[in-house]
Amino acid sequence: MNDIILQVENLSFTYPNRQCALIDINFQIEKGKKVFFHGANGAGKTTLFQCLNGLLKVRQGVIRLNGQIVKNERERMQFINIVFQNAEDQMIAGNVFDEVAFGPVNRGLPKEEVVKRVEQVMRQMNIEHLRNNPPHFLSYGEKKRVAIASILSMEQEMILLDEPTAGLDARQREELIETMNHLVNEGRTLLISTHDTDFSFRCADRVFVLHQGQLVGEGSAEEIFSLADLLEKANLAKPVLMEVYEKLLKYSYIKPGGLPHDMKEFSELLNNNQHEQ
Ligand SMILES: Nc1ncnc2c1ncn2[C@@H]1O[C@H](COP(=O)(O)OP(=O)(O)O)[C@@H](O)[C@H]1O
Ligand SMILES: [Mg+2]
Repeated sequence: MNDIILQVENLSFTYPNRQCALIDINFQIEKGKKVFFHGANGAGKTTLFQCLNGLLKVRQGVIRLNGQIVKNERERMQFINIVFQNAEDQMIAGNVFDEVAFGPVNRGLPKEEVVKRVEQVMRQMNIEHLRNNPPHFLSYGEKKRVAIASILSMEQEMILLDEPTAGLDARQREELIETMNHLVNEGRTLLISTHDTDFSFRCADRVFVLHQGQLVGEGSAEEIFSLADLLEKANLAKPVLMEVYEKLLKYSYIKPGGLPHDMKEFSELLNNNQHEQ
């Protein structure tokens, strides 16, 4: 049995204007996994992430981290951090270096430790050359990398990425996927909200689906994206690779076996089938 890092039990959340955004949510997350949350706009993804990391105060339900109930929002923030959908929302400093250093400085770490961490994550996110630039004048992709770097410098175990690919070009998306893989290899756990089912089909260890504040699906990417009714209900597109694979099977262009999750696997599948003909 793998380590369970996060357990959510009977979590409901209602905004002060009485908008009920989450209804009796229950799930658990294994350590070191990439877990994707899907759902139409307004389904409750951002609200869920903000409840988890303590930006929103949870009055109904229980959140356990490594088995312990953690009610205190500040304590949860020390463990779970969030990269906002709009990177600008979290930028406060006058230049990139200070932006990335803000968390560790605020936590009172010694100066040498702060500099060491900041240099390391700036290298990791390829933003060293931007160190003196004001964050607000960076390109969208650069801002995103700075936002992720400023979260990484705090070394939390769990990172929530709210719609991280929105606004990224193809290359930046590949870089993001590389960063995500690097983070899970370091043992961190990632929760990612997105509309992009191709992205999750390629990367997800586990997929959850929210619909009108309720958790309506959980499974592997293959399981979830095979459920036509669920995709329809939650406004989700079937991943293109899965669609193509099924069409090729249907018209007997390929033999069944080994649904490909990225273009490399897809090419291998075509190659293997060609050799067999
Ligand atoms: N600050 C807020 N005040 C009141 N209602 C909100 C607020 N933020 C979101 N909501 C409502 O809560 C529901 C869930 O929103 P949200 O969590 O942003 O969904 P998603 O991230 O999946 O698009 C929606 O009905 C939305 O209108
Ligand atoms: Mg959202």
